[in-house]
Amino acid sequence: MKGRSAVVTGTGGLGFECALALSRAGADVTIAGRNPAKGWDALSRIKHDAPEARVHFEALDLASFASVEQFGSRLCKEKESVDILINNAGVMMPPTRKLTEDGFELQLGTNYLGHFALTGHLLPALRKSNQPRVISVSSIAARQGKINFDDLQSEKSYSAIRAYGQSKLACLMFALELQRRSEANGWGISSIAAHPGISRTELLANGPGRMSPIGIISNAMGFLFQPAVQGALPLLFAATSLMAQGGSYHGPDRMGETRGYPAAAKVSQKANDATSAVRLWEVSEGLTNVAF
Ligand SMILES: NC(=O)c1ccc[n+]([C@@H]2O[C@H](COP(=O)([O-])OP(=O)(O)OC[C@H]3O[C@@H](n4cnc5c(N)ncnc54)[C@H](OP(=O)(O)O)[C@@H]3O)[C@@H](O)[C@H]2O)c1
Repeated sequence: MKGRSAVVTGTGGLGFECALALSRAGADVTIAGRNPAKGWDALSRIKHDAPEARVHFEALDLASFASVEQFGSRLCKEKESVDILINNAGVMMPPTRKLTEDGFELQLGTNYLGHFALTGHLLPALRKSNQPRVISVSSIAARQGKINFDDLQSEKSYSAIRAYGQSKLACLMFALELQRRSEANGWGISSIAAHPGISRTELLANGPGRMSPIGIISNAMGFLFQPAVQGALPLLFAATSLMAQGGSYHGPDRMGETRGYPAAAKVSQKANDATSAVRLWEVSEGLTNVAF
């Protein structure tokens, strides 16, 4: 990875593991997150493990389009090119409906719209790379997801799990549509999706909480969780392997894609629906005010 520059969103969990692995492999890594203290902590842990690491922290709040735009324009000025963008950061199932700074449902806004806008802002830097890759992190939850165009922001009725599934399905549809647009427009970007199966991170604690019904069930079924370092493998495979092609989707290979080593993941019919993907893209351009 020497000579490759990578941007990873998320300072903890899978984002940290991706940043650590890419740094160890010699990439120039930017960790982007909303909490500077966690960012500095991630840097010091990486440098402790890999003293030669070329790793930096930049402030980015995906729940604020202003922050995403500032980050994008800073990076486009500072960097000659961005070779790898891992759209990873996310929130899962806050029990009550919460909003981003711009008034969008928090999960759709952070997991999907924030990364949609980020990718659009970084497009000039990505296009300067000779083999750029954009990795979108989806989830097994995307299988149950549905894009509810009549109530995208869950205003009429909020279900934490439905809104999470919708946001993760949107990430997967975005990955596939970005690949189609990259091919049609000659952007040269390989857009690849990945998911980590079920991995032990802070996602539950940061969302519904460890004492919520799903938190208690998860504690009892802790054996189902694989370590974050292993959950990061499909993301890293998508970001670095010559075998990962644009438009592909990768996840763990065992027990219904919940654990194991990187393999082709199943793309549902809904995720493959190119007509809905175009509609979602156009709606997203309108909501974010970012055009590619
Ligand atoms: N863990 C799993 O089993 C699993 C399964 C399927 C998919 N995923 C996906 O994997 C991705 C990473 O999650 P994780 O498991 O590593 O969870 P995590 O440990 O909770 O990490 C999520 C990261 O996202 C960051 N983040 C949240 N909101 C943000 C915002 N507005 N702006 C910038 N950063 C923000 C968090 O920052 P703070 O530390 O500041 O909160 C944290 O660093 C997510 O997209 C998730 O949907 C995870």
